[in-house]
Amino acid sequence: MKQFKIVLIAVFAPLFASEAQTKGINDLDPVVEHKIDSILELMTVKEKVGQMVQYNGSFDVTGAPSDIDSKTKLQKLKNGEVGSMLNVLTAEATREAQQVVMENSRLKIPLLFGYDVIHGYKTMFPVPLGESASWDLDAMELSASIAAKETAAAGVHWTFAPMIDVSRDARWGRIMEGAGEDPYLNAVIGVARIKGFQGSDLADVATIAACAKHFAGYGFAEAGRDYNTVNVGTSELQNAILMPFKAAAEAGVATFMNSFNEIDGVPSTASTYLQRDILKGVWDYKGFMVSDWGSIAELIPHGYAEDKMQAGELAVVAGSDMDMEGRVYEEALEPLVNENTIDEALLDDAVRRILRVKFHLGLFEDPYKYSDAQREQEVLLAEAHLEAARDIARKSIVLLKNENSVLPLSKALESITVIGPLADDKDSPLGNWRAQADKNSAVSVLEGIQNAVGKEVQINYAKGADLGMGERSFLMPLEINDTDTSGFAKAIEAAKKSEVVVMVLGEDAFQTGEGRSQTGIQLRGVQQELLDEVVKVNPNVVLVLMNGRPLDISKPNEEVSAIVETWFLGSQAGNAIADVLFGAYNPSGKLPISFPRNVGQEPLYYNQKNTGRPASDMVTYSGYQDSSREALFPFGFGLSYTTFEYGAISLSASEFSGEEKLEVTIELTNTGAVAGKETVQLYLRDLVASRTRPVKELRDFKQVSLKPGETKKVTFEISAKTLEFYTANNTWEAESGSFKVMLGSNSRDLKEASFQYKK
Ligand code: NOJ
Repeated sequence: MKQFKIVLIAVFAPLFASEAQTKGINDLDPVVEHKIDSILELMTVKEKVGQMVQYNGSFDVTGAPSDIDSKTKLQKLKNGEVGSMLNVLTAEATREAQQVVMENSRLKIPLLFGYDVIHGYKTMFPVPLGESASWDLDAMELSASIAAKETAAAGVHWTFAPMIDVSRDARWGRIMEGAGEDPYLNAVIGVARIKGFQGSDLADVATIAACAKHFAGYGFAEAGRDYNTVNVGTSELQNAILMPFKAAAEAGVATFMNSFNEIDGVPSTASTYLQRDILKGVWDYKGFMVSDWGSIAELIPHGYAEDKMQAGELAVVAGSDMDMEGRVYEEALEPLVNENTIDEALLDDAVRRILRVKFHLGLFEDPYKYSDAQREQEVLLAEAHLEAARDIARKSIVLLKNENSVLPLSKALESITVIGPLADDKDSPLGNWRAQADKNSAVSVLEGIQNAVGKEVQINYAKGADLGMGERSFLMPLEINDTDTSGFAKAIEAAKKSEVVVMVLGEDAFQTGEGRSQTGIQLRGVQQELLDEVVKVNPNVVLVLMNGRPLDISKPNEEVSAIVETWFLGSQAGNAIADVLFGAYNPSGKLPISFPRNVGQEPLYYNQKNTGRPASDMVTYSGYQDSSREALFPFGFGLSYTTFEYGAISLSASEFSGEEKLEVTIELTNTGAVAGKETVQLYLRDLVASRTRPVKELRDFKQVSLKPGETKKVTFEISAKTLEFYTANNTWEAESGSFKVMLGSNSRDLKEASFQYKK
């Protein structure tokens, strides 16, 4: 058995310590712990293993379909050999399954129901990458809390969210599921979502347990190929990948999920270093770790375990507490204990953690409390939920280009032409990982525009071409229309009829999500040709993009006057987009991820290292000979219908030390004609350090609303905590030295000042 020596010493108090601490899983309640002791005493080894087994239900398959027949499954539930199920939905079905366990099993330990509620249960919010573009933590907390309310009413106790994998590669299909490329942004957004899902009391029937996933490194899959190998060193692991997970653990997230990938030769599922040493050791985390779907069994194809017996041993020793659909623990653990290969105390530790979450959820008081058919009827798709979805959706829209102020569109226009495969698509705005959203239930862009203008403006619509074709579902490959251009002629005619054309292009919902990696990130199918034809006949094109990953839009950017990035915005997408197109909402979103000039730049991220060769007039520097190394649209970028001017930075001192604080202030003025909201971003650079530091790193941000002509002072506080990183001492600390602080509207356009810090 491989064991890793722990080299981490200090527990760092993070930057993002917030009021977000929930009455958490890490605060041990002696009464609960005592009850767990008593239950453990009663349990046989088989029953302990049972708590560590999670089965898929029959409703919604989110992994390779199960090979177990329902009769065997039922018997195992009755025997108390299953502790948790995923994808069992509705108040009625969860009640039924719970009844099987409560009425038949010896110890009557309630089942825990989990489900992927990634951006809403029935009411769909923007996909997480899109919602992250709002940089509005309160809004994200609200959407998670609404998702929790709907999920809990359907009898489900636990979501496998938030995904807080820092992701830098646009080719990776799951990039849509997280908060993008920045560790700090992933951390604060992750904490907001956890707080939204879990509320202040997990036992409340409007809240559910959250799950920080995927631990760890899943977003660093080589070449953006899903499930692929990850190779990172300690600095990248700690400073980039683990930072959000540390924040999640401290915020009291009830559970963690490990990741499919290996890091440096060790699959995460079998990594003692990640799970026992860091998470449950240094971070002292008290919740439990669920495997990813089948990831314990996947230790075999990884070439890390010979068979299920060894896979089970490796995973349980490493600290994977629950086996999701791997069929390994149920076979391996009992014999492993009986033959003294593993210590039964390992099972006790895992079961204790799982029961702790069940106690926190209140399941031992009333195992049926979440399964309430009437509440389910009342809360799903409630009016207030749809209103919140619209508000969060419009806050997530990023205005990338607006030449000659083409936008907002006037309702005095005689007509508008709307073109594109996604223009009247009522399904794609729901995105992938759409839980129980009804097919085709989103407001399309065309409908949103029609709702906004009523009969005042004539709308000419032509689809132009198809994009995604055939069966569109979670597990099946998507077919793309690469050939059929028969709709072009009609679209070109329609484009000639109006002053302005709104073109809705981008990705089908099923181009991103699990397993949806791509080597190309341009507009797929015949979309680019369609755009080329339309701009030939009408130069006033507003491009509305709908997508779940950064796209290469270098060519469209040269062709159109305005670009509006709308991601997959959920149930109210069309209305939210129309709010922005016609100026009812002044766009305020900022990119949580860099948009590259071409796929060859990937992985592209702003917080890169300087390298030893940052620039040169000759070729011998770290760049490309056929492309700029800079993003087309950088991290943090987003325009408004107004303009903001940043003054000079003023510092309260040029140096500070120890526990002192430094104040950094800038004046921000709305220099345009309408009210607007700006996200002021603070970046730092640690100029010389014991491990090289990025050229800039986001460390804080503030959203400021200003009326036309109004000026406000925006002040940030920098302390030693703000400067901390995982140093060569293998601990989180600030090092003495020179720093740059940069403030501005995005990661490229920044004012800067310098200061010194002494320990
Ligand atoms: C596999 C995915 O990687 C994970 O994120 C998800 O929660 C599980 N399947 C369950 O559906």
